Amino acid sequence: MNLHRFGREHNTLPCTLGVTALLLLSLPFTAALPPPQAPLRHNDRPQNGTRGAVACESALCSRIGTDMIELGGSAADALVAATLCVGVVAMYHSGIGGGGFLLVRDPERGVYETVDFRETAPAAAHRDMYAGLSDTASTVGGLAVAVPGEVRGLETVHERWGKLSWRTVVMPAVRVAREGFRVNEDLVRYMNRVGGNASFLVSDPAWAEDFAPNGTLVKLGDLMTRKRYANTLETIAIHGPDAFYYGKIAESIVNATQSSNGILTLADMAEYAIQTRTSHLVTTDSTGLTLSSTTTINLLFGALLLTPDTGIPLNNEMDDFSQPGRRNAFGYDPAPHNYIAPGKRPLSSISPVIAEREGGEVVLATGAAGGSRIVSATAETVWRVLGRGMGLEEAVRGSRVHDQLIPAETLVEEGVEESVVRGLMERGHNVTVVGVGLSAVHGVVRGEDGVFEAVGETRLKESGGSVV
Ligand SMILES: *[C@@H]1O[C@H](CO)[C@@H](O)[C@H](O)[C@H]1NC(C)=O
Ligand SMILES: *[C@@H]1O[C@H](CO)[C@@H](O)[C@H](O)[C@H]1NC(C)=O
Ligand SMILES: *[C@@H]1O[C@H](CO)[C@@H](O)[C@H](O)[C@H]1NC(C)=O
Ligand SMILES: *[C@@H]1O[C@H](CO)[C@@H](O)[C@H](O)[C@H]1NC(C)=O
Ligand SMILES: *[C@@H]1O[C@H](CO)[C@@H](O)[C@H](O)[C@H]1NC(C)=O
Repeated sequence: MNLHRFGREHNTLPCTLGVTALLLLSLPFTAALPPPQAPLRHNDRPQNGTRGAVACESALCSRIGTDMIELGGSAADALVAATLCVGVVAMYHSGIGGGGFLLVRDPERGVYETVDFRETAPAAAHRDMYAGLSDTASTVGGLAVAVPGEVRGLETVHERWGKLSWRTVVMPAVRVAREGFRVNEDLVRYMNRVGGNASFLVSDPAWAEDFAPNGTLVKLGDLMTRKRYANTLETIAIHGPDAFYYGKIAESIVNATQSSNGILTLADMAEYAIQTRTSHLVTTDSTGLTLSSTTTINLLFGALLLTPDTGIPLNNEMDDFSQPGRRNAFGYDPAPHNYIAPGKRPLSSISPVIAEREGGEVVLATGAAGGSRIVSATAETVWRVLGRGMGLEEAVRGSRVHDQLIPAETLVEEGVEESVVRGLMERGHNVTVVGVGLSAVHGVVRGEDGVFEAVGETRLKESGGSVV
């Protein structure tokens, strides 16, 4: 039995995020597009709405999601707009340079479906591609980059379940990137984790254009813009998702990875396709279109590679594959079925959940970020809400415990009750106390009265839900 205590700094937060959008019955509603400054306000809504709800790690982006519902959009429109916004303000772990998984409850067709828009290995990738290279070859630089899937994923969600135009759901993120957003505490914390002023964010001109426009790293409260990314998103808004996978944007991604030792080609970009599965039947046909999604560029700031002309941080999802003889960043031993192959997708812990009451009404939609800790964080939240009857906020706030069996170690967040730690140790667990931030959970619940509650991760400063 061991008890270790790590400080916050020691605990590298695995970097995925959850966007959860849940909508029951959106009423037709005609209104003008919100003026450009509208997305910069948030938390000014009644928190007892029955039309729809969005929760994610940025209250601003949740609000942009519910703006779409107010314009007459569906939960899918809300999800696309909120996801793209999160990719702007939380570029350290999300964006169009990444990918993810999404669970959709489609009440009209009476099914649950998954949309797998995870990144794929380039055609030239192979099992031993990192053998003999430096330890960081699968995490830093062009060889770490897999073909991004987010734009195709959002395209699918929008085509199948959206009601507003593609342009309408993409443009709010363009405005946030172009007009700017305040550097917040979450961003400062992540910038400092990669070295603050002494990092690539300042020394690499491609990153510095956004992160150090005046020579030093942006500070808390500064208005930060991402003008190249805004132009990129606008091109995608106007010309559609293909503009990402063909032409100038695809070329800029291919050029950036190849000039950093990568193997990604234009053919890899052109061939990317999402995968869908039709998995469970919805128990009744009540009208709640519900989506739960997690998107990521993998580790903090992905491959530390940003396309110089189009401003896209690129993922390092190749590190999610197993490599013979090497543990990955989360301490998992290599698994042969997760070895690299051309066009293959790496395994993931992403586990979006949607729960229904016995009568078929949606009661909870949730998801988590945090690499291997996603599974335990999601399970704890579901157990607390459904099993113990806790309110969602209390359930999210509660301390988390994580054990992935390999390595044989139980992580508990500092602040957990002593009796829990003692109980675990008495049962022979090797308990390690870590700083809070093992994982990030977002969720939406719908009470029996039809009123939504949307809760963002309480461990993040800027997260939040929005209800209309
Ligand atoms: C919702 O909240 C507003 C103010 O926060 C209150 O005026 C209204 O009565 C509430 N409605 C319901 C149905 O609880
Ligand atoms: C970066 O440098 C500036 C100017 O020297 C300083 O004010 C700021 O605190 C530094 N930021 C970090 C994160 O070290
Ligand atoms: C950079 O300098 C300009 C001109 O002084 C100023 O307007 C802007 O706010 C600064 N930007 C940041 C992020 O510090
Ligand atoms: C990418 O590189 C090719 C070959 O060097 C060049 O012709 C093309 O203009 C570049 N494209 C972009 C968008 O940088
Ligand atoms: C605790 O660690 C020891 C030594 O690594 C291991 O043998 C044991 O199985 C671990 N206990 C649990 C419950 O994981």
